[in-house]
Amino acid sequence: MSHICVIGTGYVGLVTGVCFADLGNQVVCLDVDQKRIDGLKKGIMPIYEPGLEQLSAHNVKANRLSFTTDYHEALKGAEFAFIAVGTPSGVEGEADLQYIRAAAESIATTTDSPLVVVNKSTVPVGTGDWVADVIRKKRAGKPLNFKVVSNPEFLREGSAINDFMNPDRVVLGSLEREAADQVARLYAPLRCPVLITDLRTAEMIKYASNAFLATRISFINEIANMCEEMGADVREVAQGMGMDKRIGHAFLDAGLGWGGSCFPKDVKALEHMAVLNGTHPQLLQAVMEINRNQRRRAVLKLRKALGGLNDKVIGILGLSFKPNTDDVRDAPALEVIRLLENEGAQVKVYDPQAMEVAAPYIKKAVFCEDPYCALKDADALVLATEWNEFKQLDFDRILSLMRNPVILDGRNLWDGDALRAKGFTYFGIGRGSTISK
Ligand SMILES: NC(=O)c1ccc[n+]([C@@H]2O[C@H](COP(=O)([O-])OP(=O)(O)OC[C@H]3O[C@@H](n4cnc5c(N)ncnc54)[C@H](O)[C@@H]3O)[C@@H](O)[C@H]2O)c1
Repeated sequence: MSHICVIGTGYVGLVTGVCFADLGNQVVCLDVDQKRIDGLKKGIMPIYEPGLEQLSAHNVKANRLSFTTDYHEALKGAEFAFIAVGTPSGVEGEADLQYIRAAAESIATTTDSPLVVVNKSTVPVGTGDWVADVIRKKRAGKPLNFKVVSNPEFLREGSAINDFMNPDRVVLGSLEREAADQVARLYAPLRCPVLITDLRTAEMIKYASNAFLATRISFINEIANMCEEMGADVREVAQGMGMDKRIGHAFLDAGLGWGGSCFPKDVKALEHMAVLNGTHPQLLQAVMEINRNQRRRAVLKLRKALGGLNDKVIGILGLSFKPNTDDVRDAPALEVIRLLENEGAQVKVYDPQAMEVAAPYIKKAVFCEDPYCALKDADALVLATEWNEFKQLDFDRILSLMRNPVILDGRNLWDGDALRAKGFTYFGIGRGSTISK
């Protein structure tokens, strides 16, 4: 059993804290957001993540997990301080490290005990060294026995607990092997492969992984656009490609493109780092450009189908960037809504979890209590997020509710032939084949 402090109680920090507590450690989760911590103390989760509330309650009850805004309380007796604060995009696309700096400085001014500082946030290559410098500088000559380890996180929102508990690998980077080994022991109960590297390599592994996954999605979207023009079906193309073991099936789903809290900012940050260091990241630039165009292309399809978008009513199903999360950061739905509203369309929306979080970003939209309300008198339906509850909708009812039965299935969720047979005008993504559109 180890004493762990987790700094930042967002998607990563909270899941990390709750899961380490569940593995039998003594965990204090800290955040500067008083409201968030007050809520957590009452069992109210600040994010929607399946299973998190129950697992948190279980570990609080077992006295292994607590929440605070007080760094002294959180670091008292801690052997490890995991930094899991946000690293959003700065104005130039770089990772904004102000929260990392604040966390590092708070550690420096709070504790005098030996500590392993573990960077779980996604940070630019070289940040581990920088964090050590920030701490040393803040100590102003007062010694502190600390080591920095990079431990990038690979969990996916929506399946975060399972991903944490069953990782494909744990990556640890440090200049001091013993510190990396200490962190590795925390993960030992998970019985997963552990890769130990130097600090910078670990930091790069995270960026390279996210950039590669984004590249796969942009690649299949580029192929999808070709399929539309050349009469092929991208779903079957992806299936055929994925059967090749060298390629595999994951991240080959054509759609409205990638979004979320990680890919957009991480690809941008990697591009920024690359340019700053004198390389020319052409592939990353193309990957981002294809992604931007994917949303524009969807709007173009609607404009063509409806003969213009001014005063048209569009029902959007799904706001979160993917199912099973309420995260709307860089969600394709929000970008599509912005583009539609720019052209004078009125937007009605429904999402099972993300409406409250999305509300500040789409103030003109009409929020609806179910999918049918969002589609009443609509000129088109756009499926932006493939939540389970959208898989089996009552399309006869939808047909009777809509003013114009046009469907843009941005996630290729539905059977286009069946919907056309009912009388809908149906567009998927990359479904140009005449056999199965
Ligand atoms: N969300 C994901 O799916 C995911 C996956 C892998 C990696 N990451 C990376 O993990 C990091 C955290 O992401 P997230 O989505 O959990 O962020 P988030 O925005 O959900 O949460 C960050 C939390 O940190 C708190 N915070 C900010 N400054 C603080 C400080 N000085 N002291 C204490 N708390 C502070 C904020 O109040 C907030 O609650 C990012 O670098 C992200 O790129 C995220």
